[in-house]
Amino acid sequence: MFKNDLKKIEQRVLKAIKAAKSETDLEQVRLQHLSRHGELAVLLKQLKDLPPAEKKSAGQAANAAKEGIETALQQKGLSFQMSAGVTDGGVDVTMPGHSFLTGNLHPSTIIQQELEDICRALGFRVLEGPDIESEYYNFTALNIPADHPARDTQDTFWLKKEGQVLKTHTSAMQVRALEKYGAPLRAVFPGRCFRYEATDASHDTTFYQLEGLMVDKNVSITHLIGVMKELLRAVFGKDTKVRQRPGFFSFVEPGFELDISCFICDGEGCSVCKRTGWVELLPCGLVHPEVIKAGGLDPKVWSGFAFGLGLTRLVMMKYGIDDIRLLQGGDLRFLKQFG
Ligand code: PHE
Repeated sequence: MFKNDLKKIEQRVLKAIKAAKSETDLEQVRLQHLSRHGELAVLLKQLKDLPPAEKKSAGQAANAAKEGIETALQQKGLSFQMSAGVTDGGVDVTMPGHSFLTGNLHPSTIIQQELEDICRALGFRVLEGPDIESEYYNFTALNIPADHPARDTQDTFWLKKEGQVLKTHTSAMQVRALEKYGAPLRAVFPGRCFRYEATDASHDTTFYQLEGLMVDKNVSITHLIGVMKELLRAVFGKDTKVRQRPGFFSFVEPGFELDISCFICDGEGCSVCKRTGWVELLPCGLVHPEVIKAGGLDPKVWSGFAFGLGLTRLVMMKYGIDDIRLLQGGDLRFLKQFG
């Protein structure tokens, strides 16, 4: 009986609140239904006369109804204030706030920093070089003769200024570093490279490499392979399937290509690995005596190894990105996934 009456009153009041068209209407509802002499108050007075068995649940129902009515009143009141906008020249604290777009690191930056940390731990210093490079450091000092196809305009962005290029590889830092620091030297050079070529899923006109150079007495292929293996293990967190092939670069002798099994397709063959199941990741070799000489050192005393890790390829393998063009495309929907 009590609960039935309560329900009816509650519904009436809620309906009246809903129907209110102004704050004055709302005040009217409050006075009419919720004052000390209003019907709710009258009903609540009966609570104390109820049999003890009913009292508890009736009391709970009454409290719930009161709370429901209070909330409805408050919300209706707020909706009037909001539609009036800023009230009384004050601040409308009910306005939703501005959300700020927070930035995050580019996936290439994340992997570059990770690699730098690994290399520092192996005793390599981290150096950076210019993007605009001289023909000398990019080619000549690296024993790349003037008629070598790598100098062909197909591959290189030549600048208007005579003898200047956008660096095509981070190897351009090798002789700069030797000139500046001499030997023994252990250094890595992360950097952006530029190539004048057609783009597809695995080629872009700009990409990143991380070059490594170690020059000391009696450096051999064993050192090179040891450091390569350690680097790959640290990057991938496990032993990676690799294969080694002979490779030609005029600034190393002998030269190798270290390929890793494609992470995108698990070696099955896809557009990134050009259906071969393998990705060229780590060209490397022993530093050519001509390069040691160009660095101002005696090749009879000093020897070394160099590698040119494909940083962008590595980023693609680690994150499963199947199109290189996404990386420089500037699409926030892509970039925000790495935050
Ligand atoms: N600079 C070479 C390239 O771009 C790679 C390389 C670096 C090869 C170091 C051997 C040693 O492709």
